[in-house]
Amino acid sequence: MVKPIIAPSILASDFANLGHQCKCVVDGGAEWLHLDVMDGHFVPNISLGSPVIASLRNALPRNAEKPVFFDCHMMVSNPEQWIEDIAKAGGDGYTFHFEATDDPLGCIKKVKAAGMKVGVSVKPGTPVEVLFPIIEEIDLALVMTVEPGFGGQKFMPDMMSKVELLRKKYPKLNIQVDGGLAKDTIAPAAEAGANVIVAGTSVFRAENPKEVIDYLKGSVVE
Ligand code: DX5
Ligand code: ZN
Repeated sequence: MVKPIIAPSILASDFANLGHQCKCVVDGGAEWLHLDVMDGHFVPNISLGSPVIASLRNALPRNAEKPVFFDCHMMVSNPEQWIEDIAKAGGDGYTFHFEATDDPLGCIKKVKAAGMKVGVSVKPGTPVEVLFPIIEEIDLALVMTVEPGFGGQKFMPDMMSKVELLRKKYPKLNIQVDGGLAKDTIAPAAEAGANVIVAGTSVFRAENPKEVIDYLKGSVVE
């Protein structure tokens, strides 16, 4: 029904060795790379933007033997503003926050027009029901399992009721979880029905990233 996808979050990588570390996790079986873009306004942190994404795209080109999907998680106010930039830099997916715009449908249309897949995310305090009216228009729903802004936070199991509700209503939807996912937290997320697993600290800080990627992937219920 849905396939398992592991998306290592580069926020936990060593930015001085970004290209090398990303190649390692792709070789280790990661289908996606999760690129956390933060503007210091929507969230209290600044991370990276289109210049870094463009450099990574050069290092991991679309015509590679095993192309990797660039999953851009836009933790920004006014998400409409960066769609063209991110598309040009090589983004494949553009996930924005429902809370960050007054016009989610308009933003969805613009992302599609720029040739990217579109995701919409909800913060822990936002009910998942807000996504129901737009669900047919999106490729992915992201249920945050930490407050966005920082890597290395504790997984919030309470968020699993949102995932369960989404999965019951939408058996084929890509449902992503992000924040605190690791070998010891994947079980409730997988049981609830999440199939796109973001993992920063647990993958990039592991002695053996491939082993963690395999474990997370093997946990997802297909
Ligand atoms: C948090 C980011 C996450 C984060 C995940 O705001 O959206 O993608 O980097 O990192 P871990 O897996 O370390 O919680
Ligand atoms: Zn993220």
